[in-house]
Amino acid sequence: MLFDRFGRPVTNLRISITENCNLNCFYCHREGQQTGHREMTPEEIERIVRIASRLGIKKVKLTGGEPTVRADIVEIVRRIRPYVVDLSLTTNGTVMHRLAEELKEAGLDRVNISLDTLDRRKYKRITGFDVLPQVLKGVEKSVKLFSPVKLNMVVMKGLNDDEIWDMIDYAARTGAVLQLIEIEAPRELEGSWFFKRYFYPLKPLEEELEKRAVEIRERRMHRRRKYFLPVNHGIAEVEVVRAMHNTVFCANCTRLRLTADGHLKTCLLRRDDLIDILTPMRSGATDEELVDVFREAIRIRQPYWR
Ligand code: 5AD
Repeated sequence: MLFDRFGRPVTNLRISITENCNLNCFYCHREGQQTGHREMTPEEIERIVRIASRLGIKKVKLTGGEPTVRADIVEIVRRIRPYVVDLSLTTNGTVMHRLAEELKEAGLDRVNISLDTLDRRKYKRITGFDVLPQVLKGVEKSVKLFSPVKLNMVVMKGLNDDEIWDMIDYAARTGAVLQLIEIEAPRELEGSWFFKRYFYPLKPLEEELEKRAVEIRERRMHRRRKYFLPVNHGIAEVEVVRAMHNTVFCANCTRLRLTADGHLKTCLLRRDDLIDILTPMRSGATDEELVDVFREAIRIRQPYWR
């Protein structure tokens, strides 16, 4: 297994397979990527995952952009399936109503679906597209096939903070887990108009959840807690993702990233941590040489908040 200089094991790889997206959420951090001009083929993604797996990185999450806009998404899932123990996908859910079955068959274990609101007009305002009914269909289809299905709700002040309890109820009703996410931004953007206007601190809510929960479990990844809450429709499962200025979050990070244009990346919020792995691969590097590229990424890995 790989450990960085801070003693943190690296066990997860988050792979952006495209920068393209069929929505246009105004707050999107684009997984910390700058625009690149290449995309990896399924064979190339498979090779990187095979090498990662050899190094003990056996949990893989596919993201974008929007990963389902790639026509070969099912092939990608099928190819990397044999090398990983946990294979998940983060999607906006817009095509899950027709893609979920194929993805399941190809070996996908679970999905996270971005859903910030249950209000059709707000959904359009946030994402630019009037497709909420379709996304809800995708959620309903997904919960029939995958477990868990997590709903990612980025909570924004004055925009959807009034919907938190409705979303908790909706998640319980559909059988999904709700992840409440604080807006994340690098230090340079904290003073920005956008951040000041929309940042909604989730600490007070988390304290409230703590009071109301019938059970609390802690996950190793980022030391996140899961709250089990009694609601009208049974028990809701809620996680809170608070990354900003959270040293505990960083101290427990087990993740490495791969950008859509083939760079290893050590942290969403850093701007100086890209290590090209696709160029050496395309120039004929051996597996051993690619292992060294991974080692270089591990060498520069450090907590963003500490
Ligand atoms: N802050 C927090 N979460 C974000 N996401 C996208 N941009 C941001 C941001 N600035 C979420 C999306 C998606 C997940 C991949 O990241 O809603 O669910």
